[in-house]
Amino acid sequence: MVSSDRLAPGEEGEIRVTIRTDRKKGFISRTVQVRTNDPLKPLVILKLKAKVVDSFHGKKLVIKEIFRFPCRKCHVDRGRGQLGANLFRADCIMCHMRGKSASSLALLKKLPEKRLLVAIEKGVPDTMMPGFSWKVGGPLTESQIKSLVTYIKGK
Ligand code: HEC
Ligand code: HEC
Repeated sequence: MVSSDRLAPGEEGEIRVTIRTDRKKGFISRTVQVRTNDPLKPLVILKLKAKVVDSFHGKKLVIKEIFRFPCRKCHVDRGRGQLGANLFRADCIMCHMRGKSASSLALLKKLPEKRLLVAIEKGVPDTMMPGFSWKVGGPLTESQIKSLVTYIKGK
């Protein structure tokens, strides 16, 4: 929202920007492009940075909680009924992204299928990797887990 769409040279105005923070966590950044008829600077890019402080990711996280309310809103619900790439994007990428603590997709791809399958089904003990199989209380069916292995291996 701009206070005025006409500003005389040297005059000041205000731009109101809203950043949606739902489903976000930690540092986020956005840019706003301001186009003007100023011949010297027709385009100005404003960089916005924010830190989203949420009440969900405190120190003492019990990883199995991730599948329950209110955690499941962000960590489970978007993956419901999804397969392969879509499922990975919904349920996995928040932790398995380059630069995050867990292995990136490129690293996961190098692992044998069996190891991928077991880790996704049962989780990895003593880490923040929960078992996703419904057999151990997770949200995913066997075919969803198989679709993830296929997607990761890139077949
Ligand atoms: C508002 C959405 C949202 C909710 C609710 C939510 N999470 Fe998260 N969670 C995220 C996102 C996004 C990330 C990705 C981490 C990042 O980008 O820093 C994440 C990351 C994590 C991680 C990885 C920690 C890390 O820093 O690598 C754990 C563990 C986790 N969440 C557990 C939980 C638990 C347990 C709950 C419920 C108490 C919960 N989350 C609720 C969005 C959410
Ligand atoms: C809350 C964060 C989190 C989420 C969500 C998560 N993982 Fe993990 N995952 C980890 C951590 C931490 C490890 C252990 C460290 C590592 O191997 O990178 C791990 C390990 C793994 C491993 C074993 C890697 C190995 O070296 O043996 C696989 C495979 C894996 N995850 C796949 C997935 C898939 C597929 C999903 C989505 C269904 C997923 N993960 C969701 C955090 C997460």
